[in-house]
Amino acid sequence: MRTIIIYYSLDGNTEFIARKVAQDLNASLLKLEPEKEYPKGSVSKYVWGGKSVVFGEKPRLKPYKFQKEMYDVIILATPIWASSFTPPIRSFLTTNDLINKKIGLISCSAGGDTQKCRQQMLELTKASAFVAEMNLIEPLKMDVNIVDNQISEFCTKLYGNFG
Ligand SMILES: Cc1cc2nc3c(=O)[nH]c(=O)nc-3n(C[C@H](O)[C@H](O)[C@H](O)COP(=O)(O)O)c2cc1C
Repeated sequence: MRTIIIYYSLDGNTEFIARKVAQDLNASLLKLEPEKEYPKGSVSKYVWGGKSVVFGEKPRLKPYKFQKEMYDVIILATPIWASSFTPPIRSFLTTNDLINKKIGLISCSAGGDTQKCRQQMLELTKASAFVAEMNLIEPLKMDVNIVDNQISEFCTKLYGNFG
């Protein structure tokens, strides 16, 4: 099963999880980087990031290589922003058609609802369901054993769907 994890992360939580899952699944990693990164300041990130989600922005990404034919499973990993997914993921999904691909979803949040993100990502990818999905709450601050258990459940679900 050839798998790639495509992710965006501003503060490192999603990147931490993406790397761990990639190790467990022996998957490739693709980090999406906006040409102009969002500010990391404790207030400014919410202002600029929130506005970017609300306006449905599609920021220009630094060049990346991605050939969808090379993968059986594509895992999208994103922080939750304003109850939705992040704009760099929107940029990626509006440029790359993942129709008929098996898609997994990983999100990191501060504990807010993830249903809107889930639903909007299903609509944008045109997937009927995710092959596996999980949300982690601020994993960089979580007990590593709890993180590892969640990851292992996610990978088991993913493998279970492919034998
Ligand atoms: C602009 C912005 C909006 C956010 N909105 C939400 C939200 O609606 N719900 C929530 O639970 N967390 C929200 N968060 C918190 C992040 O989802 C959370 O800190 C996540 O772990 C960050 O992932 P990262 O470290 O990979 O960037 C928001 C963070 C930012 C910067």
